[in-house]
Amino acid sequence: MEIKKTERYANIIPVAELHTKEKRLNPFPVYNLLRRLSPVRYDESRSTWDVFRYEDVHRILKDPAAFSSVRMLSDKDRETILTMDPPRHSQMRALVNKAFTPKIISGMDSHIRSITMDLLDAVADKGAMDLVHDLAVPLPVIVIAELLGVPPKDRDLFKEWSDILVKGPEENTDEAFYQVMAEKGQAIEQLNDYFARIVDERRVQPRDDLISLLLSAEIEGEKLTDKEILGFSTLLLAAGNETTTNLITNAVRLLTEKPELQQRLRNDPELTASFIEEVLRFYPPIQAIGRVATADVEIGGKQVKKGDQVISWVASANRDETKFDDPETFLIDRKPNAHLSFGFGIHFCLGAPLARLESQIALRAMIERMGDIRLAPNAALEPIQSPFVFGVKQYPVEFRPL
Ligand code: HEM
Repeated sequence: MEIKKTERYANIIPVAELHTKEKRLNPFPVYNLLRRLSPVRYDESRSTWDVFRYEDVHRILKDPAAFSSVRMLSDKDRETILTMDPPRHSQMRALVNKAFTPKIISGMDSHIRSITMDLLDAVADKGAMDLVHDLAVPLPVIVIAELLGVPPKDRDLFKEWSDILVKGPEENTDEAFYQVMAEKGQAIEQLNDYFARIVDERRVQPRDDLISLLLSAEIEGEKLTDKEILGFSTLLLAAGNETTTNLITNAVRLLTEKPELQQRLRNDPELTASFIEEVLRFYPPIQAIGRVATADVEIGGKQVKKGDQVISWVASANRDETKFDDPETFLIDRKPNAHLSFGFGIHFCLGAPLARLESQIALRAMIERMGDIRLAPNAALEPIQSPFVFGVKQYPVEFRPL
């Protein structure tokens, strides 16, 4: 399939101002500037609108009729709720909600804690670890693999595929763009083949897992299509892992950048939940969310045309001074905290309760077992190669075993 840069895949090209490594490690001053200078602007090079203010982002996310999630170039073999509009979205969402009820998620508490403790046992005595490799990657992958019913031993493969799915080009050239598109195409194909095999197995021999549940589910008397089952399984793997990994990493990054937070959490572990919410606001794992205008519409005084792609920068909205008091200050007990890091409205993150639970458990366990957590000297931080994911590839830390 021929892909033109002007088609709706522009969201994988980074905003020009965020090209350097330093800016990607700390994009927030750029967002603040853009929000003040050009809160709604059209970027010719990416053929896309960028929206930076809370009020505008909130309005876009809450109006799926005006701003569609259906993307022209969604993969032909894969149909996901993320890229559906009502009424199909509402039907699918009602179905998969059944697998993610607060009761089911909170019932996973002790199991997630035991996986976390096993992972920390392997490193706790050493006084040093790579947070990403040793905890932040394996924890969400193991949990989601178990939920879906796929072997956790394949987790290196999952990680490889999800890295590629969120990847953006290294530089803003056609060559780099097409290279990334080809890599993505290949990863999606492999992911689809992998899940197609598991779906076939479960069809013959159902188990107590999510894929078997999707196979037996019906919407208005009709079974889900294979395309929908594959789409949902692969979405969970990609959407659920990379994001939670980065939430855990970003949380520990903040603990090392603001070490006084470690003492606050140690003295009062009950603060862990609001700490995680503030990490989500301050360092959101997903920086931006894409939509397509379904009709000509005005946003912040600009005329957006039917069919235009609109990118909502939640990472900017989360620091909008018209919505948050003192937005540049990290407040461990901030209330209210209406950040948009899990999105808003009908597509609000299905996995939010699970991501919150996993990251709270991970942070509590680290504080219990490790004193004086700090970034290893001479650590060179590398941003994740993606324009809309905020995180680092490694985060080597040192600590005092407790
Ligand atoms: C949707 C972020 C973890 C599954 C979303 C959206 C965001 C988001 C921003 C909305 C996208 C849009 O409106 O287009 C995050 C973050 C996470 C996280 C920051 C971790 C910190 C998870 C986990 C799972 C998951 C653990 C699954 C186990 C989903 C699904 C959707 C979604 C299925 C689509 C919901 C829909 O379209 O109705 N997520 N997510 N996410 N997320 Fe997450």
